[in-house]
Formats: sequence, structure tokens, C-alpha cells
Amino acid sequence: MENDNFGFETQAIRTQLERTQFQEHSVPLYLSSSFVFDDAEDMRASFTEEKDRNIYSRFSNPNTSEFVEKICKMEGAEAGYAFATGMAAVFSTFAALLNAGDHIVSAGSVFGSTHALFMTYFPKWNIETSYFDINKPETIESFIKPNTKILYAESPTNPAVDIIDLELLSVIAKKHNLILIVDNCFATPYIQQPIKWGTDLVIHSATKLIDGQGRVLGGVTVGREDLIRQIYLFSRNTGPALSPFNAWILSKSLETLAVRVEKHCENALIVAEFLEKNPNVNSVKYPFLKSHPKYEIAKKQMLLGGNIIAFEIKGGLEAGRAFLDKIKLCSLSANIGDTRTIVTHPASTTHSKLSVDERLAVSITDGLVRVSVGLETVKDVIADLEQALS
Ligand SMILES: Cc1ncc(COP(=O)(O)O)c(C=O)c1O
Repeated sequence: MENDNFGFETQAIRTQLERTQFQEHSVPLYLSSSFVFDDAEDMRASFTEEKDRNIYSRFSNPNTSEFVEKICKMEGAEAGYAFATGMAAVFSTFAALLNAGDHIVSAGSVFGSTHALFMTYFPKWNIETSYFDINKPETIESFIKPNTKILYAESPTNPAVDIIDLELLSVIAKKHNLILIVDNCFATPYIQQPIKWGTDLVIHSATKLIDGQGRVLGGVTVGREDLIRQIYLFSRNTGPALSPFNAWILSKSLETLAVRVEKHCENALIVAEFLEKNPNVNSVKYPFLKSHPKYEIAKKQMLLGGNIIAFEIKGGLEAGRAFLDKIKLCSLSANIGDTRTIVTHPASTTHSKLSVDERLAVSITDGLVRVSVGLETVKDVIADLEQALS
């Protein structure tokens, strides 16, 4: 089925592998590590890529190809490659495109493991990263050097839910001939399509809302065909491929992404409005609340506000810990984008090893609480948060 005029939901549901002789309605699972050839010529032509076909599941597999094709259609991308985790996608994308001596300019507010790549591992290969303050995009150009190759950001960010203007990033990237890469994990392709604003490559941790039910890990990078080709060749040799089983799960998850995300966002807005009125909360950050400092930009580039809320509890570090201890219904867990609402307190957990100044540089105050709003009945989630805040 090929029709690029179909809507988002139709693409998500009807982009699927051809039926086998069994005429199955739902695509089966192709648990096969390798594929067979008819003869020597078939094998030769497959290895030289004169034939586009599956050889070995580290290179490609029908289930992973279906998953990648769906994400490409949803993001408006030319090509893509699927990974075992979101971090495998982040690492392999950078490792494939960079050489020793290259330089990255990135927003300082990036996911913790991405920060570890930039600060601990890439310097081992003489790849340096400069951070700009995501809330001061006017400073970005001052960090660009002759050897800068990549401009990188997440929007919204994890965990502080900061927003950056993707169109502005693309203008800067084009002016300085940089590759613009955006981690679109918090928004999903249903809410935001960075390629529309000029982004070269989009990365997702599919572990979050794309799976949406806390079952499997996965990642994907999509975008410009010439760049994906380099990422594909790097990955086919180094082995971070998504497993066919997880690809099968994730491809089916995409069929319901739109309806799930609509409901997540509807619930999140209600919870955010409740938090804004709560006397024990200092401030709330949610992209579609008028009080968000980048509300206008969020409205411009996002269809909905997402399912993540950051709020500042009165009483700092101890109040944050006490809040977690009083939670009854919601889960204390490291994941986000699950059907189950999840609360975390970054200052005492994920970011506890950072100094106060380092935390503040990425908008993590002592009282910051992150809520990943799930799909439970929203009044029950609010009742739990209310009693834990009281
Ligand atoms: C913004 C962002 N990028 C990347 C990742 C890494 O994804 P994974 O856990 O699938 O490796 C995460 C995980 O939380 C994330 O929040």
C-alpha cells in the first residue's frame, strides 16, 4: 500500500509488510537471524546491494524494516535505521558521522546518558562538546568553531520540559553548514515533526511513548538518506540493531500511537492545571500552559503539550523525597511514557551526583518533580498527587 496522501493514523496502521501465502491480517513475527539465497549469483548481487533484500538481521529484518518505514512516514523522513535502545541510536548516530577532532554544539539540558557520552566517552576520541543554555538560543553561534560538525538538542527536554525553537536551530545549522540532530522522544512524531522545520536527523527512544506500555526497549534514527547511509554502514558492522521481536511490538504500538498520545496529553493538561492551583506547588512547567516561558514556540511547533510535567514542590529536596514516599497509586520508576503514571524526583535520584550548580545549569532545582502522566482515570491520578502534596 503506497499513498503518501494518507493521514497520520492511516500510515501508522496500513504501512505494513506484504501478506504471506497464509493471508494473515496482522503482520507475523519474522524471528530469523539470516535469510537464504537461490544461488551464487543471487548471493553475490545481494551482498553488492544490487538487490535490495534481507541478508542477516543485524543489517535488516522484515519486522525492523516495517517499523522504520512507519516512523519515516510519520516524521516525513527519507530513510532510517532502528536500534536496540534509544541510547544505541544516539551513540551510533554520532559515532557514524564524527571523526576525531570534530566538535559538537549541544543544548546543556540533555538526557543523562547523552551527557555522559559527550563528557566522558567522546573526549576519549578527541571529540569535544560545548553546551549552550537552552533558554539562551541567542548564544548558540558563539560556541560554533571551524571544526563544529553537529548541532544537537532535545525539545521538550528531560526532565525540565524546556523548549527550543526548532526552526531557529535549523537556520543556524544551515548558516554554518552543521548537521542538525533533534531527540524527539518527549514529543513523538504525532506531536512534532522536526524535519518539517529543517532538522537533518531525528532520534527517538522508542522505549517511551512509542511502545507506550513499558514493555520493550528500542530506538530509531530517521532523516536525510545520505546521513542514514553512513549510520546504516556503521551499525551493520558494529551491531546495535533492534531485535525483530521488539520491532514487531513497536510496529504494532504505532498503530495506536495517535489515540494514546491524544489521551495522554488530555490527562496531562488536566493534571498540569490542577498542579498550578495547588498551594504546595511553587511553579509548573508544561508546554501547553500559558505560564510556560516558551508557550508561543510550543504552540507553533507542537500539536499537543505531551505527557510530561515538571513542577517545583515547596520545601526543596526534603519535600521532594517526602512527596515520593506518600505516593500510593502512581509508580516510582525510571521510565516515562507508560500507561501508568510515573513520578520521579531528579535531585535526589537521577541527578543526585551533580552539584547544585550543575543541576541548576540544566534547570533542575531541588524541588523539581517530573510526572509522566499515564492513561488511568485522571481524577484518580489527581487524588493521589493531591494527598501526596498535602
Ligand atoms: C530524551 C531521551 N533520549 C534518549 C533516551 C534513552 O533511551 P533508552 O532508555 O531507550 O536507551 C531517553 C531515556 O529516558 C530519553 O529520555
